[in-house]
Amino acid sequence: MITKPTIDRIMEATDIVEVIGEFVALKKRGANYVGLSPFANERTPSFTVSPAKGIFKDFSSGKGGSAVTFLMELEKFTYPEALKWLAKKYGIQVEETVDTTENLEEQNHRESLMIVSGYAAKFFHESLLETEEGQNIGLSYFKERGFNADTIKKFELGYSPDQWEAFTGEAIKQGYQEQYLVESGLSVKRDNGSLYDRYRGRVMFPIHSFTGRVIAFGGRTLKSDKNVPKYVNSPESEIYHKSNVLYGLYFAKRAIREEDNCYLVEGYADVISVHQAGVENVVASSGTSLTVEQIRLIGRLTKNITILYDGDAAGIKAAIRGLDIVIEEGLNVRIVLFPDGDDPDSYVRKVGSSGFLNYVKSNSKDFIEFKSEILLKDIQNDPIAKANAFTEISKTISLIKDDLKRSEYTKIASQKFNISERQLIGIINKNISDELRKKRQSEERASEKLIQEENNIEDETSINTGLSQKELEAIAYSDANQEKEIIRLLLLYGNKMIDWDGIANTYIGPFMIAELSDVEFEQPVTKHFMEIYRQEVENGVLPEEQHFIHHPDKGIVDLVVTLLATKYTLSENWYEMHKIMVPDEQANMKATILGAIFHLKKQKVGKILESLRKELQTTSAEADQEILLNQYMHMKKVEKTISDYLGSVIIK
Ligand code: CTP
Ligand code: MN
Repeated sequence: MITKPTIDRIMEATDIVEVIGEFVALKKRGANYVGLSPFANERTPSFTVSPAKGIFKDFSSGKGGSAVTFLMELEKFTYPEALKWLAKKYGIQVEETVDTTENLEEQNHRESLMIVSGYAAKFFHESLLETEEGQNIGLSYFKERGFNADTIKKFELGYSPDQWEAFTGEAIKQGYQEQYLVESGLSVKRDNGSLYDRYRGRVMFPIHSFTGRVIAFGGRTLKSDKNVPKYVNSPESEIYHKSNVLYGLYFAKRAIREEDNCYLVEGYADVISVHQAGVENVVASSGTSLTVEQIRLIGRLTKNITILYDGDAAGIKAAIRGLDIVIEEGLNVRIVLFPDGDDPDSYVRKVGSSGFLNYVKSNSKDFIEFKSEILLKDIQNDPIAKANAFTEISKTISLIKDDLKRSEYTKIASQKFNISERQLIGIINKNISDELRKKRQSEERASEKLIQEENNIEDETSINTGLSQKELEAIAYSDANQEKEIIRLLLLYGNKMIDWDGIANTYIGPFMIAELSDVEFEQPVTKHFMEIYRQEVENGVLPEEQHFIHHPDKGIVDLVVTLLATKYTLSENWYEMHKIMVPDEQANMKATILGAIFHLKKQKVGKILESLRKELQTTSAEADQEILLNQYMHMKKVEKTISDYLGSVIIK
């Protein structure tokens, strides 16, 4: 657990524009900054950052929150990981309290999975270096492959003993729970309920997250038996989504930024050999084709990716189809083919790092050039095959968003295909306009949905022209969102004073809490908010909006940011667009606060009355009926009192 003073120091130092600016290009617009959503594919920026409030809101994906939430969403950090990232950025020393009970049960789920994976990595690493079996079998294999001691240590390579329960038995003895052993895939459950090791007699490659924690394993067999799978990999789990991970990225991050290029290879061994040779900007997709998530991971560090292939022509032809998505994500792709029989691993060991770099530099080809050549290779004089190949390359070029780059490639491809540039431009433009039309249609649907939602929210806090101020207020407090309206008022005005007819001053927050002590909030998140607020008030603190913006509970952050962001970014435009006057709730604070409280109460009373009415209808025993009737009459009186109090504010 990170201590409260440390968290406070981190929050104080954090500049949300600076943090988000590392990942999203932001432009100043008024008091806010806007940019393209990193969570959705969009062309018109809907991602808004408010430096004054320290929040962001992404209207495309609906996500919103603080700098911490942003890091959690984008980098898939846990709460403490996000805090530590910020602490590092701002040079703040992190104080942590040690969990002295060492009760693994109390750690949250993801954290438990990471802890057990970290433990396993240590276990396998030690069994590689310190057991006789590990040294004789695992270590000698790695040495034979040319991995040196530093490399083995850096990548935390390991060995799993060739027994059924070596790891599981030890882990259980150390207090790790079955649940996490099974969920992480390290242990497998037999039908009779007992556990055995997934990895036995294999050399182990731990897979690290972007932040360097072990989240999964690949285990390579050392047997040449064709019936034994070469690799056994971790299953998907809460901490390991294969499509979001690149092997080696944690160790390559810095070099990728510095070199402004990322080498992509196929296997674990390729990454390690190339890295050991001093070319550190290398990652592997681990034997599958690249996913959009993986491309975006790279795209945050560099826009240049060089793919190192060892495949045969047929394999390459299949593989390059998948690379169109890299172009679409706006990255520049180059391709290097290795001489027959060599892969990056064997080649770098053969020629060393400078030989390797020389080869890569003088043999790398631009992707479109490369693809054109491959496509043209076995066409000969078949006009249909040529037309197909041509369609394919024109589609790829259409995906390039940068105009200059696109026209350059159009020129190259027209030469390669021996076709007039004009003709190619025509085809590409048609592709683009088709795509644009499709995209625009789906964007329009999305923005209609957004406006719809906006209207829903605004309907609750305003307004139809032509109604009186009081009528407007009545509509404002219509049912479902009255709980949220209370929270909005607490956030905006809870720490302000209110003057009750010049007689007594009170803070609005504690006043509202006291007035609402007999009201049960129904939505879990609003209820939770009220509990937190009440608790803070009881502790003698008036919680400010920042308290909730930085709350560890994501539900709370979402609620608060939605309420704040709607008011501050969307609604002003919306009101302006529709030429509607915003009722000035601050000018009549008393009515605003009391109105909200009593409308909520009236609504709750209405619900109680409704359920009493139903009960009355289904109850036949006379005595019961009488009790219910009494309750009903009592509630009716309460309702009338509230109505009288609210006076003419209520229309119905
Ligand atoms: N792979 C896998 N499962 C397999 C085969 C391959 O997950 N049965 C993945 C691994 O991530 C592997 C990558 O695909 O690293 C590339 O496969 P391959 O070239 O066969 O493995 P290498 O790691 O290069 O193994 P080696 O050089 O030791 O033969
Ligand atoms: Mn290999």
